[in-house]
Amino acid sequence: MYYPDEIIEEVRLNSDVVDIIGSYVHITRKGGSHFGLCPFHHEKTPSFSVSKDKQMYYCFGCGAGGNVFSFVMAYENYTFVEAVKYLADKAHIDLPEPEVSAQVRAAMNYKSRLYEVNKLAARYFYMMLRKEYGQVALRYIEGREISSDIMKQFGLGYSTQFRDDLYKHLKAKGYSDKELFDGGVLLEDKRKQGTYYDRFFNRLMFPIFDVHSRVIAFGGRVLGDGQPKYLNSPETQLFNKSRNLYGLNIARKSREKFMILVEGYMDVIALHQAGFDNSIASLGTAFTGGHGHLIKRYVDEIIISFDSDSAGVNASLRAIPILKSAGLIVRVLVMNDAKDPDDLIKLKGRDSYEQLIKQAMPSFMFEVLQLSKRYDLKDPEYKTRFSEEVAKKLLAIEGKLERDNYTEAIIKDFNMSREGLMELLGKYGKNIGIVQKKHINADLNREEKRLKQREDAVTIAQKEFLAIIVSHKQIFNKVNKIITPDYFNHETLQKVGLIIYDMYKKDLEIEPTVVMSKFTQIDDQKLIAGIFGEEIKIENQLQLEKLLNDTIRSIKSNYLEARQKTVTDPIGLMELIKEKKELLHLYVSLEDIDRRD
Ligand code: CTP
Ligand code: MN
Repeated sequence: MYYPDEIIEEVRLNSDVVDIIGSYVHITRKGGSHFGLCPFHHEKTPSFSVSKDKQMYYCFGCGAGGNVFSFVMAYENYTFVEAVKYLADKAHIDLPEPEVSAQVRAAMNYKSRLYEVNKLAARYFYMMLRKEYGQVALRYIEGREISSDIMKQFGLGYSTQFRDDLYKHLKAKGYSDKELFDGGVLLEDKRKQGTYYDRFFNRLMFPIFDVHSRVIAFGGRVLGDGQPKYLNSPETQLFNKSRNLYGLNIARKSREKFMILVEGYMDVIALHQAGFDNSIASLGTAFTGGHGHLIKRYVDEIIISFDSDSAGVNASLRAIPILKSAGLIVRVLVMNDAKDPDDLIKLKGRDSYEQLIKQAMPSFMFEVLQLSKRYDLKDPEYKTRFSEEVAKKLLAIEGKLERDNYTEAIIKDFNMSREGLMELLGKYGKNIGIVQKKHINADLNREEKRLKQREDAVTIAQKEFLAIIVSHKQIFNKVNKIITPDYFNHETLQKVGLIIYDMYKKDLEIEPTVVMSKFTQIDDQKLIAGIFGEEIKIENQLQLEKLLNDTIRSIKSNYLEARQKTVTDPIGLMELIKEKKELLHLYVSLEDIDRRD
């Protein structure tokens, strides 16, 4: 890991989970715990609990849970290291510098100089907007009905009509020509090499932020008409166009479960101003797989809301497969009364945009709708061709249920003959072998399902086993020779097991949050929260005894079976048979265990 365990522990001890979560979520004390509305799913009655003793949180509604690191990771979408840095900063703990080579350090230093260049440039533009010669830009902004709050939030600025004022300003602060050029704020004179001037002048400036809200580039718009309408920073060491999206630094914190993808800076700004804080735009470039994966990190669903002209429709058609292959559910918002979302909100108001979001079409229906426009459906011959195309598209859908639903929707929307379409589906389906293939798939799925269910059962057994030994040290002492973490097939649970066994061996108190701090992935943390969250109560000794024996049998027999597949030598096999026999007769009694343990 990046930081030593002691440092992480120090950060955690100085970041009280109730204080930290309380600064994000309204929680109130009830008994030993604090309760509030879960920030990770929509709910009306509080099922989100935070425990001061355990230094953990858990939601009974959605199963979200973890310690203070998990919370910051989930809420801010941080990595583990980012969460540690953030909390260390809050607690005024100095983190040690990570050890890196001189070369890497030099590169990091250079990069941080480029960040500074962009930050200072953004500050300068911001200041100029409020100066005498910024008035023209300020009036332009007012004309476009941007509020001063939003202006601030997006850090809008103005590059003056002078062609070297930013250059001089930054040179005076000690930055070299090379640093300014590599930061993307300068242009080199083509006729006179080594001579630089400002890339942007007399433009409204939109700083482009990365997900950590660091300025990495700019977009600049002419005030009024003129060409080019927008000018953007080039790609630099900081700015990779297909790894950044405008507005994502804000949208990623939105409570909405989907994002809205628009074409332009002004659309993002107008939507945020209207309360759609989940809006983003690609930056004057084609939409790429990189963008798709970036979005998928935060949400599962995206609504495309591009301009209503044919360029916008074509861009939507291009973006759909890219977004889908990133694993996103894609819908398309269709706008007839305005050119773009910014326009629509001005003309019709935010509620009418909200309505359009609700009506946004599944991408498949949008594709079929666009396809239909290429055929004159009043002409029987064209209608047949259209039906053929639609049948092929339908057959490309994997799931039968989904395909059936779309088939029905299309029959209804395009007034198609059911028999006709079914016949085409049958015909093409056979040709491409889809009918038979589906059969095999169904069988495969059954087998997969069976295996998966079994796997789940073994995983659950491992979790329950850990939950039991964590809360009952006497039981641990009884069973730690019978089951060891080596028997676990679940990687994370095995690690948890090793940590717990080790802590017991050192006679340490098992603190959930200490165990959790050794894991950097939010999924792992959630799993561990589940183990500690669902404490096993000894209300009925017999029940506990049965559960314990069931888990032991499940874990051990699974382990023996796995070993059977690899062991080939006769002695190993004999051992195995012996152990299997022993397992049949194994029973751990809890009769002699003190119930108050
Ligand atoms: N764009 C660009 N370079 C251009 C034109 C457009 O990079 N010469 C990008 C910008 O990111 C812009 C987006 O494409 O925001 C959409 O362009 P357009 O629809 O023309 O602009 P709008 O966002 O509608 O801008 P405005 O409302 O200010 O006219
Ligand atoms: Mn516009």
